[in-house]
Amino acid sequence: MKQTWLLLATAAMLTACTEKHATTLKEAFQHDFYIGTAMNVPQIFEIDKAESDLVATHFSAIVAENCMKSEEIHPEKDRYFFDEADAFVAFGEKHGMFITGHTLVWHSQLAPWFPYDEAGNKVSREEMIARLKEHISTVVGRYKGRIKGWDVVNEAILDDGSLRMTPFLEIIGEEYLELAFRFAHEADPEAELYYNDYSMSSPAKRERVVQLVRDLKAKGLRIDGVGMQGHMGMDYPDVAEFEKSIEAYAAEGVKVMITEWDISALPTIRQGAEISDTVSYMQAMNPYAEGMPAEAEEAWNERVRTFMDLFLKHSDKISRVTAWGVTDRTSWLNNWPMPGRTNYPLLFDRENNLKPVMQEYLNRK
Ligand code: G3I
Repeated sequence: MKQTWLLLATAAMLTACTEKHATTLKEAFQHDFYIGTAMNVPQIFEIDKAESDLVATHFSAIVAENCMKSEEIHPEKDRYFFDEADAFVAFGEKHGMFITGHTLVWHSQLAPWFPYDEAGNKVSREEMIARLKEHISTVVGRYKGRIKGWDVVNEAILDDGSLRMTPFLEIIGEEYLELAFRFAHEADPEAELYYNDYSMSSPAKRERVVQLVRDLKAKGLRIDGVGMQGHMGMDYPDVAEFEKSIEAYAAEGVKVMITEWDISALPTIRQGAEISDTVSYMQAMNPYAEGMPAEAEEAWNERVRTFMDLFLKHSDKISRVTAWGVTDRTSWLNNWPMPGRTNYPLLFDRENNLKPVMQEYLNRK
């Protein structure tokens, strides 16, 4: 009898030791949420082959970092440029990924011609609505059934909860928000539609985003999800406020997505992600140009664990966690808000290795 128990215990121990650990991020999180990354043009065309291979191996979702923004995809009123976006979608289809289009309506990187007529005057409300409809219908229509989700409107609300004064708000008025979602749904009735923004744990912004979701739903419009960009630093956002926002958005009956996750390892100069808000170079704000000291690395690792564990705790609400880039080397945070910094915000290091803190999640039971 004793021998039988001993045999059983040994077998159980051996099973536990040989239990297969995940070898990729998408395997590790396959029961939790899509794990994604933003792709830049060198990765899309496999010019940066090493990073393209990391994307194909580790991620189950991709989003276009820049190539689908209006200044890139619709550079002139009567000219579109789809080469990069076509290659992006083809890459995602080749690897069976969830493909997100970013972004249909955004004040930044807005094609310069968009709000102006040929004489350089602001166009009429009717003309701006016509341009908005034509842009959305053309871009969404081209990828109908292939791009599964769209960041329809990006960063339309300020941290104080007011609407950002953009050419869309100025010329069309608040109705541009519902028009954007309506046009996107008409162009692809199957596609998921999202509102996407940064600093989404700011209480005033949270309240306004909740109101936006309610307003769109009250008008019978489709909105499937709210994108919390997740641009973070070592000292922001407050974890409790971030969790409150996850719960508040989910309570509106929409998916929550972490859409642009990175954690700056450097001293915070600016919170959020206001791309136009930059500062000139200051050596003191670039302390790890030659590499991160061990204690700084462990502090960053702990920050990653805090938020990744929060995402896993709420995996019933969170459908996707997307890093805003593949390796530290190509992160936008090496140049924002201060050009020329050496930052360490992403899941892979400059040698294309998965960081140890993320290895811990491969080995989760
Ligand atoms: O492609 C041109 C290249 O031809 C030119 O030589 C070079 C120098 O001028 O610029 C290149 O374009 C740059 C582009 O990134 C591609 O590298 C733009 O100047 C630069 O402004 C653009 O920055 C992007 C930024 O959005 C503005 O579009 C960042 O890569 C991108 O990470 C960042 O992403 C945004 C999200 O879309 C929205 N949420 C905030 C997030 C961070 O700002």
